[in-house]
Amino acid sequence: MAGDDRRDVRGDGSSERGVTGQPTGDGTGDAPLAPYPSTLGHPLTHTVGAMRDVFGFRNRAMAERDFVRIKLLGPGDVYHLGHPDYFERVLLSGRDAFRKSDDFRIAFEGGLVAVEGEAWRRQRETLQPLFARDRVLDYTDGMVEQIRRRCRRWEPGTRIDLAAETSQLSLDVLFATLFGRELAFDGDREIRTAADHLQHWFAPTSYPLPHWVPTPARRRFRRGKRRLRSVADDLLDAAAEDPPADPSAAEDLLTLLVALRESGAAADGALSDDRLRDQVVTMIFAGHDTTSTAIAFAFYALATNPAVRERFHAEVDALDGPPTADDLDALPVTDRVVTETLRRYPPVYTIPREAATDVTIDGYRIPEGAATWLTVDQVHHDPRFYDDPATFRPARWATDLRERLPDFAYAPFGGGPRRCIGRRFALVEAKLALATIGREYDLVWPGNPDADPPLLGEMTARMEPDTEFAVERR
Ligand code: HEM
Repeated sequence: MAGDDRRDVRGDGSSERGVTGQPTGDGTGDAPLAPYPSTLGHPLTHTVGAMRDVFGFRNRAMAERDFVRIKLLGPGDVYHLGHPDYFERVLLSGRDAFRKSDDFRIAFEGGLVAVEGEAWRRQRETLQPLFARDRVLDYTDGMVEQIRRRCRRWEPGTRIDLAAETSQLSLDVLFATLFGRELAFDGDREIRTAADHLQHWFAPTSYPLPHWVPTPARRRFRRGKRRLRSVADDLLDAAAEDPPADPSAAEDLLTLLVALRESGAAADGALSDDRLRDQVVTMIFAGHDTTSTAIAFAFYALATNPAVRERFHAEVDALDGPPTADDLDALPVTDRVVTETLRRYPPVYTIPREAATDVTIDGYRIPEGAATWLTVDQVHHDPRFYDDPATFRPARWATDLRERLPDFAYAPFGGGPRRCIGRRFALVEAKLALATIGREYDLVWPGNPDADPPLLGEMTARMEPDTEFAVERR
């Protein structure tokens, strides 16, 4: 199928796939969308199916459709949208008709990931400079130092729980760079545990229940959040001892936040004390698990694809020493491995929104308040956009694929104005982790390379716990 044909899939109504339910002819009506499947739609069946294997469940539900209503216990009717044109509408051109869900507001309160409207715009503008290209490049030495500190402890001939290691690593990196405070390698247990617990708000065992039910996972989340808010206070106090006169000279998040507070810029409430704390908790939540999953799956993909691994090793072996900021543009193979990892195993496989008003899409109504989920995993594995989508093939990015892809067909970081603020940071960290570790170690996959990947779909996609890799010195 030619690239241009694929682009037309939804634009001119000639799609081979479509929505469920009754066609409305010209697509201008606002009929309710029939639930999936229209005859057997008990929410319990779907909820259990999705909890057991969310990816398999979606593959079945969305095999022939880009727009499906699935009844789930908890969120109720969830409108699943799995086409780049729908992503464009929800994230960009029609974004005012959608908002973040209550989950985010309750969990992250005034943090960037949760706020809306003018408060979001002000926060985003304030925080953006910290993630600009040059600023992120300033973090590279600190990142490499943290990566080496961790991987040097790996004993060749033993096995490591790779996801647990990359999880600690991404936290080490966040603290040492954005927060300006190095975590103790064998200490700071409380902070490390609290950071892990932030993911528990969205535990699959809790989401069918109303927010006020204090499930064990939600209690863990609340404890973690309390602990991290007090860590944030300590960090803010420490940064306040020597604030820069000018916020634009701030080198890390904490110094920036303190400089804003001192300069009075935070006084209008957009960055009040509480919101400053919320930013710290938000960055840990949004930047920790996502990046660590990406790094873990990149190593899994390398370990199970020997030809790719060989090219990758040849590239990183050609470096003079551990990678530096100057090397980043000279690592095209590593770059493509990261890009393809984020396509094949997108850590954020669902981008959730809620309809802020009644919305009509392709002639079907999404009622106000209904959960609307963008299924990134479906689009990233859609053969209309990617040949042989289940195959990990970084070389696909060495072609003109990027130019041929419709906008939003590659969306590991979302899209539109709320696109991930930390994407450069994450990409640089992932490349440095691959290059630094890959020069010194081979992480060998002891399982069957043809079996299903050890992928677990929770709030983010994660590597199954206790997935071990053998460490070999190169
Ligand atoms: C591979 C790693 C990462 C992935 C896959 C990822 C993915 C995403 C996605 C899909 C969104 C959009 C969510 C939406 O529209 O609802 C997002 C937003 C966000 N991300 Fe990331 N992210 C990653 C790393 C990071 C890092 C390292 C940080 C910070 C240190 C970060 C901070 C944020 C924040 C604060 C937002 C909210 C932005 C806003 O609403 O304006 N992320 N991320």
